[in-house]
Amino acid sequence: MKEQPFPSHPEGWRLKGGAVPRVPGHNAGVQISIRPEQPRDAPAITAVVEAAFGQRSEALLVELLRASPCFIPELSLMAEIDERVVGHVMITTAWIDDGDERRPIANLAPLAVAPEHQRSGVGSALMRAVSAEAEARREPLVILQGNPRYYSRFGFEWSVPVGITMDLPDWAPREAAQVLKLGAYDPAIRGHVVLPSAFEECELDQEQ
Ligand SMILES: CC(C)(COP(=O)(O)OP(=O)(O)OC[C@H]1O[C@@H](n2cnc3c(N)ncnc32)[C@H](O)[C@@H]1OP(=O)(O)O)[C@@H](O)C(=O)NCCC(=O)NCCS
Repeated sequence: MKEQPFPSHPEGWRLKGGAVPRVPGHNAGVQISIRPEQPRDAPAITAVVEAAFGQRSEALLVELLRASPCFIPELSLMAEIDERVVGHVMITTAWIDDGDERRPIANLAPLAVAPEHQRSGVGSALMRAVSAEAEARREPLVILQGNPRYYSRFGFEWSVPVGITMDLPDWAPREAAQVLKLGAYDPAIRGHVVLPSAFEECELDQEQ
């Protein structure tokens, strides 16, 4: 993968092969490397995702998405510290249905950081890197379901005011439906989100 600076970050995020991502105020002196996952990384990723969520469902989701046509290899990134996997994030293909047609969009899920490395900048590094990669692919937007307190810091906003609706799980406030508008954003992209069947096959009963 080529180097990809993330323009809104003061230090300019870069994927592995360039400078080392750091979060100001966190992880002082700790190097977080971010790169696309490779087939050999799958068991370590499964272990990290399962540990992060404390259950198997999200790890199964990763495995099902990886094996599906929705998988985008360059948008499935892992974070390493001292060559050990400490985090993982995936953007895969979902769809938006406006009643007339269904078009593919980028869907971010899940994001996971190993418990012993949480709250030290790993999740932020993964979010900025995967957003930069989506921008480099000229994706118009990225959607997700999650806690707005966490994701708003990366530019995500409530999706309903821009015309994008999603079915949400019971735990979620309506603002959990979020969108990140990228450079190629087109306000004509409106409608209801349709997720890949992998999401139905996993019982995702925990707050994301
Ligand atoms: C949520 C998660 C991915 C965040 O990654 P992280 O590496 O711990 O987060 P970072 O260190 O980059 O950011 C830490 C900041 O996020 C906040 N934060 C962490 N988890 C949060 C959550 N679930 N909700 C809201 N804020 C959260 C922290 O308070 C901290 O805020 P501060 O910078 O103002 O002090 C990680 O905690 C995790 O894997 N949790 C379990 C799995 C999960 O819930 N995944 C969610 C998405 S599918």
